[in-house]
Amino acid sequence: MKKFNLKELFKKKPQSTLGVDLGSHTIKVVELTGNGGQRRVKKVGRALLPQGAIVDGSIKEHDVVLEVLEHLLSNLQPSLKRASTSISGYSVIVKRIHVPYMTEKEMEENLIIEAEKYVPFEISDVYIDFSVLKTYPEENGGSDIFLVAAKKEIVDEYANLLEGVGLTPAVIDVDAFTLVNAFELAFGEVEEPAVLIDIGASKTNLNIVKKGMPIFTRDMNIGGEQLTEAIQEATGLNREDAETVKISGTKDKVLAREITGVVQEISELWGKEIKKAISFFKSSASPEEFPTCVFISGGTSMLKGLEDYFSDALGLETRRLNAFAGQEPDRDIDEKYLQSISPQMAIASGLAIRSAG
Ligand SMILES: Nc1ncnc2c1ncn2[C@@H]1O[C@H](COP(=O)(O)OP(=O)(O)OP(=O)(O)O)[C@@H](O)[C@H]1O
Ligand SMILES: [Mg+2]
Repeated sequence: MKKFNLKELFKKKPQSTLGVDLGSHTIKVVELTGNGGQRRVKKVGRALLPQGAIVDGSIKEHDVVLEVLEHLLSNLQPSLKRASTSISGYSVIVKRIHVPYMTEKEMEENLIIEAEKYVPFEISDVYIDFSVLKTYPEENGGSDIFLVAAKKEIVDEYANLLEGVGLTPAVIDVDAFTLVNAFELAFGEVEEPAVLIDIGASKTNLNIVKKGMPIFTRDMNIGGEQLTEAIQEATGLNREDAETVKISGTKDKVLAREITGVVQEISELWGKEIKKAISFFKSSASPEEFPTCVFISGGTSMLKGLEDYFSDALGLETRRLNAFAGQEPDRDIDEKYLQSISPQMAIASGLAIRSAG
């Protein structure tokens, strides 16, 4: 599989990288050793960010994020210095397009012309990359490609942050593709098309993947923050308490009932949005591309009962994605803890298997 690579900041020599997922709510870091089916989880950690530090995929408070990441790294003491991270949000455009047959070199030259049709920014302000999804064998059949354009300003912001904590930025990827890597890490190349849904705090990324390739991707404005706010509104709790009861529940029966009601209401909303995206994909896909199962990840996927809820709402078997499936943790990592946080670590794990080159 061709790995996506937005910014070639490195030399062509495959080396493992430290996975650093800079989410709007939690920073996640993963270090893996080995390769193929022989990987070990060497380091894994997460740290909360204050609200407003990263908004819509943009680092608003550089120094705050830097300090939190620095602290996390000093606790973890990873051995890798080369790091990968990923971006998402309004400054990243991922578009599946059809182009006439071209060699890779011609494609690179023509990409700017193609990109100008789809990218709502000045072309000089974006980095452009592509990945060939499918080449049609018939004469002049052309190719389906993913066109990726990301604002230089944002890519540089993330690269600078990594440099600021003494890491070397190796790959700046896109959340959507990273999630596909995490899925591959857990299961290898799966024949059956699957839906991967990463539900974070402020956004959700949905991917449909077939044989290790993303065939559809969509960002949605849904996430755990929405649920915390709805709990606050319904119960009058402050943000911190609402967040705590959302994650850990409560012994107060009246409050628990209120929260269950809010969770149901919001999950229903999410189910509808996700169903709409899958239906949209299916309206232009061929039946052999129709997904048969769903894997959820991201912190919000750890919400109690969400798997069952989505299974019913989507009519597709839904499971949490354990990107560490089948991998031995290092001695000092508690296996139970690792399993319990693994869905939230999916993107960081996908980044950790990004060998640059
Ligand atoms: N056990 C849990 N049950 C329910 N929600 C949880 C649980 N643990 C964490 N969360 C929620 O998950 C969210 C954080 O998840 P994640 O780390 O995937 O987000 P993020 O990557 O920081 O955000 P984003 O990708 O949207 O910028 C928060 O809203 C948090 O409240
Ligand atoms: Mg995230």
